[in-house]
Amino acid sequence: MGIATSTLNLAQSKLHVAAPYLIEQTWADYTPEQHAIWAELVTRRMPQLREHACREYLDGFHQIGLREDKLPNLTEVSALLQPRTGWQSTPVSGFLPADAFFEMLAARMFPTTTWLRSRDSMEYTPEPDIFHDVFGHVPMHAHPVFANFLESYGKICAGLMARPDALERMGRLFWFTVEFGLIRQDGEIKVYGSGLISSHGECTRVLAGGCEVKDFDLDAVLNQEFQTSEMQPVLYAVESFDQIYEATKEAEKRLR
Ligand SMILES: [Fe+2]
Repeated sequence: MGIATSTLNLAQSKLHVAAPYLIEQTWADYTPEQHAIWAELVTRRMPQLREHACREYLDGFHQIGLREDKLPNLTEVSALLQPRTGWQSTPVSGFLPADAFFEMLAARMFPTTTWLRSRDSMEYTPEPDIFHDVFGHVPMHAHPVFANFLESYGKICAGLMARPDALERMGRLFWFTVEFGLIRQDGEIKVYGSGLISSHGECTRVLAGGCEVKDFDLDAVLNQEFQTSEMQPVLYAVESFDQIYEATKEAEKRLR
């Protein structure tokens, strides 16, 4: 109890609106079957990702100590991540309201669900689980520019809470970068968005040319509507992660 409880208390003391959603991850409670599901999910994704994920994702995967055979212990992940970029993978009880979500991003704490999908929904879950959140998102947080971008995004959105129209547009920026972003590296399209990293079906479809890939353009992204529950008809490729960091700062100016 000691270490975990003090970690939770420390996190709670840094947050206001998000504090009630923080929980402890009781890692010892995961069953062998759950570790086996995690292993199956990761083993299924890695061959494609070794070839088609951006290099920052693959570096991050190892830097934060993710393993193919065991569910991640978030305290251990954060202990490796925090010295690199100041980010933590912080356990939460489930879906967060927008203000709590942005508050956590602004504090470099990524709200992380601890539940794992069951065997009958290996391909898709409507709400994020630990596979989507940790395998899909957290490796990118080890990259300094992406880390700065995501904190900056959280701070900007936290300041726009009274502006639903502006928040909707910022939501599109998140969707087409953090969730479904593509990047050009070594003359090829590589994936970094968590929705592509964690979904074999959607990633395979995108890599096979089943969706239109446009060059990232801030205005186009801010105006591009999307459906969360459907395959994406159009996605955007950046040239570098500096581009989304700069675009986020530019978006703040435009939406002010
Ligand atoms: Fe996500």
